[in-house]
Amino acid sequence: MIDQINGMTRTCGLIGNPVEHTLSPVIHNSLASRTGINLVYVPFHVEEGGLENAVKGAYDLNILGMNVTVPYKTKVMEYLAEIDDDARRIGAVNTLVRVPGGYKGYNTDLSGLYRGMVSDGIRIEGETVIILGAGGAGKAVASLCAAKGAKKIYILNRSLDKAEELACSINREFGRDIVIALGISEYGRIEEDSCLAIQTTSVGLHPDVDVSPVDDRDFFEKIHTGIDIIYKPAETKFMKLVKVHGGNAYNGLKMLLYQGIIAYELWNRVEVDENTAGWIYSLLKE
Ligand code: ATR
Repeated sequence: MIDQINGMTRTCGLIGNPVEHTLSPVIHNSLASRTGINLVYVPFHVEEGGLENAVKGAYDLNILGMNVTVPYKTKVMEYLAEIDDDARRIGAVNTLVRVPGGYKGYNTDLSGLYRGMVSDGIRIEGETVIILGAGGAGKAVASLCAAKGAKKIYILNRSLDKAEELACSINREFGRDIVIALGISEYGRIEEDSCLAIQTTSVGLHPDVDVSPVDDRDFFEKIHTGIDIIYKPAETKFMKLVKVHGGNAYNGLKMLLYQGIIAYELWNRVEVDENTAGWIYSLLKE
């Protein structure tokens, strides 16, 4: 947090509902103090129906940038001046950057996931990747893995039709049969023995119900590295099972960290170094 708000203070914020438990103010206000930029970051609770006014009002109030969270990541696209190509392809925006006449929408969730993986030394290129889930997050992660050179991608989903639809759309987009759709318990059809797995379903979000979308030993024996994009709880059942079977497990906290850092870099036209990123990460883990 900066020491003193004054006439030169830049304002950024978060639009969502709910916003009470967000960690984004920790990321951005700590970045402001560390990088010496006169900026404050404030969460704004926006009711359904108020989104358009919130975006237009933010622009009129000279707000530099916004993050957008649940449930507005798709809906907000209707109110933007421009949309970055990756965000349009994914169909979701989590960061608004002020441009002449309105805001430009970006998706830093996905670039954040990738930068977090790079910082942990996790490769996608040449890997066989298993993605659990075919919702909005699964779609974005599948598209990232195809773009970053995965050798093969298996999408496992409770509803097979959604996995098939997603596989078709990515295979069409990338012009090759890189993605295979399977039902959630069809992991026996995965040919490879050493895979990267990314858990994108909402299973595991509730700390008091310790479950994983798959819990079979035959599945986890194939996994050398497992990432759960959930960061609360800090260790999901999926992660525990990856570790029990000898793999390395990561939660979604790095993704959260880097989506924030990339947004901060876009707003302020700066680069955040890895020391600063590490310091913010330690604050988030507290
Ligand atoms: P998001 O945008 O966060 O990905 P979503 O679009 O609602 O959210 O998708 C939720 C994902 O979690 C889906 O893949 C969903 O599976 P279905 O497509 O079959 O609904 C998955 N999911 C949710 N609850 C689940 C459960 N109890 N078991 C297995 N998968 C589940």
